[in-house]
Amino acid sequence: MNAKIILLPGDGIGPEIVKQAHRVLKQVAEKFGHHFDYESCPIGGCAIDEFGDPLPPQTLEACRNADAILLGAVGGPKWDDPTAKTRPEKGLLAIRKELGLFANLRPINPHPDLLDASPLKRDRLEGTDILFVRELTGGIYFGESGRKPHESGEEAYNMMTYNTGEVERVIRLAAKAAQGRRGKLTSVDKANVLEVSRLWRQTAERIIQEEFPDLEYEVVLVDAMAMHLISRPADFDVVVTGNMFGDILTDEASMLPGSLGLLASASLGTDGPGLYEPIHGSAPDIAGQGIANPLATILSTAMLLRHSLKLEEEAIAIENAVDAVIKAGHRTKDIAAGGDFVSTTEMSDLVLAQLG
Ligand code: IPM
Ligand code: MG
Repeated sequence: MNAKIILLPGDGIGPEIVKQAHRVLKQVAEKFGHHFDYESCPIGGCAIDEFGDPLPPQTLEACRNADAILLGAVGGPKWDDPTAKTRPEKGLLAIRKELGLFANLRPINPHPDLLDASPLKRDRLEGTDILFVRELTGGIYFGESGRKPHESGEEAYNMMTYNTGEVERVIRLAAKAAQGRRGKLTSVDKANVLEVSRLWRQTAERIIQEEFPDLEYEVVLVDAMAMHLISRPADFDVVVTGNMFGDILTDEASMLPGSLGLLASASLGTDGPGLYEPIHGSAPDIAGQGIANPLATILSTAMLLRHSLKLEEEAIAIENAVDAVIKAGHRTKDIAAGGDFVSTTEMSDLVLAQLG
């Protein structure tokens, strides 16, 4: 197979981890006889520095013409000034919107050998295997916003909206994912308070009744979900929710496996390229030290191969290699619990050796 893959290293540890994931992709291509072309483009803070724009038009154009995109991370203290004209995060939101990447898949499956790295007790975690599907191009993230004068100073507002079509497509995608897993779907909303959530709930219920009657389906309020995720995480299979609830709940869920450094994600649209990225941020505090965990980005390449290139066997080969390296006891600093640890490059070398 021939494929064009765009690399968006971004800021902080982004370039270090994308470099390692790129090595893994190259080795997979060689091993399985594929030809992948790569192009690296700026996004985020480094793109602001170079072009004054966190998503320069040439980066967006290259992404539109690609088969898949691998992103590191964006942002850092250098670009954090609240009065700045633009921000690195704007580049990330813009690429999601421009490419129509409405569904963000975030699998949470704590590795059995790392359960003690989690702040949660082992008996709560055992059996946990959740796929979060977060709506990614709507809701309060993209509603009208602004400021107006107020007698006390100013008033700021962000509008939360969802329309029927936006809810239908993400519910369908999540329901199909549940059919391919354990057949259970949980939709999370705040329908006791928000009109937007009442439309979400009605629409979701209709789609499930009409098109997916075989699924075990439940609705949970977002505040209760925050609690259930900690008290009984193993009860959930696929969890679908809106943009902001999904942002918050997936960070909470990321603590189940103990480290953000292990979690991959895929952002998908109807057609066109998917965007794959670790769910951790740019970690500016450890950038350049060679200690970042490359596994979340390496696992993101497995999702890339699976979802955008339909190369299931290759995806599994990467996942198995990562699994074997963890089983063999190798740890980067974030999951070493104070013990011995390997560097970013050493960890990647181990995965490559395992891939063969
Ligand atoms: C995420 C991040 C982003 C978001 C930020 C960096 C804009 O937190 O991907 O979860 O809020 O969506
Ligand atoms: Mg987030």
